[in-house]
Amino acid sequence: MSESFSTVPSGAIRSFDFNLFDLPTFGSVRDALAQYHGDDHIYVLYPRRIAAAAEAFVQGFPGDILYAVKANPHPAVLKTLWTHGVRQFDVASKREVDLVSELYPDAELFLMHPVKSRQLIRHAYAMGVRHFAVDCLEELDKIVDVTEGAADLHLHVRMALPKSTAKMPLVGKFGAGFEDAITLLREAALVSAHLGMCFHVGSQCLDVESYSHGLAYAAKIRDLAGVALDSIDVGGGFPVAYPEMEIPPMADYFSEISEALATYGFEDLAVYGEPGRALCATGGSTIARVELRKGTDLYLNDGTYGSLFDAGACAWKFPVKLHRDQPPSPSANTVGFRFFGPTCDSIDVMNGPFHLPANTGEGDWIEIEHLGAYGQSLATSFNGFSSDHVFVVLE
Ligand SMILES: Cc1ncc(COP(=O)(O)O)c(C=O)c1O
Repeated sequence: MSESFSTVPSGAIRSFDFNLFDLPTFGSVRDALAQYHGDDHIYVLYPRRIAAAAEAFVQGFPGDILYAVKANPHPAVLKTLWTHGVRQFDVASKREVDLVSELYPDAELFLMHPVKSRQLIRHAYAMGVRHFAVDCLEELDKIVDVTEGAADLHLHVRMALPKSTAKMPLVGKFGAGFEDAITLLREAALVSAHLGMCFHVGSQCLDVESYSHGLAYAAKIRDLAGVALDSIDVGGGFPVAYPEMEIPPMADYFSEISEALATYGFEDLAVYGEPGRALCATGGSTIARVELRKGTDLYLNDGTYGSLFDAGACAWKFPVKLHRDQPPSPSANTVGFRFFGPTCDSIDVMNGPFHLPANTGEGDWIEIEHLGAYGQSLATSFNGFSSDHVFVVLE
């Protein structure tokens, strides 16, 4: 809770639909900023947008949705997703297991990180987790050993896809290659009550066919292994409309996956998808203040070491908006700005360009949108710059 708001401030509105852990709740960012007198950047959650994304997936995806908690583990995000029908969660660490279990003891957890410590496996199993990803024989042995040959495991063999066209490819680190996946499936079949396969096409995947190619590849491995599967998991990767990235409608992803499930003989299995980004990116913004302007460089109070990691390290562009209440009015013409973050490090730069009114300057608040996923969750407190100010805006 922020030091600026020890209680819900006067002027804030409450909602019967979105009572999110007593976070200060407003009708607009403007109302929130009018009440905020702190020095840090702030995070805004738009639960209605998260709710709409959850409903689209729950209703449209041809299977069950596991929310990838890493994208944004904020309890208000988890609560919004749960309220709108998400009951399963992809977790990777003890903290994620404990967080979701504490909030929702009935949630079904999937430990889909292919490399887990023995302590984590032991803890997760004791907490009721039965779904584990494996991508090599050593990890399989570890799970069997730690769970003492448990008879109720649902193991998901993670295969590596031969290529990724995603904007953030997840290649080279996890996933069994073709031959290894065949061997691993056969071995996993001997020790699991339920057997699945899973893959990840890479994050922010703009190409719907990546999913059908993944399913075709999985079918080849399954057929050569000669095992019967209980589940197939197509992973995450569903995209968000960042600037200069054209994304196909989500319905195209769902129909492509449905057709491929039928074509490749997966239609009678349990089907899972693990969206992170697509469920919560548009549901969150960072609002950062301009501390100084030098030419077309704006020095902000958040940056690459904060919630703008993807804007800095990956040079992604994000939609931006100026929030200014005082005169002079924002100019009608815009300029492409570069952003610098607050730390001493010179890699703390976000090249953009980010187009804002030409007279943007010190004291202005800039809303950087689509940071509900992999924004706040990546932020560090390097150099003492961080923020725990989270406001809800019901737009
Ligand atoms: C195992 C796993 N599942 C799901 C996701 C979520 O991916 P996305 O946010 O692209 O949907 C990730 C992201 O890294 C992942 O590693």
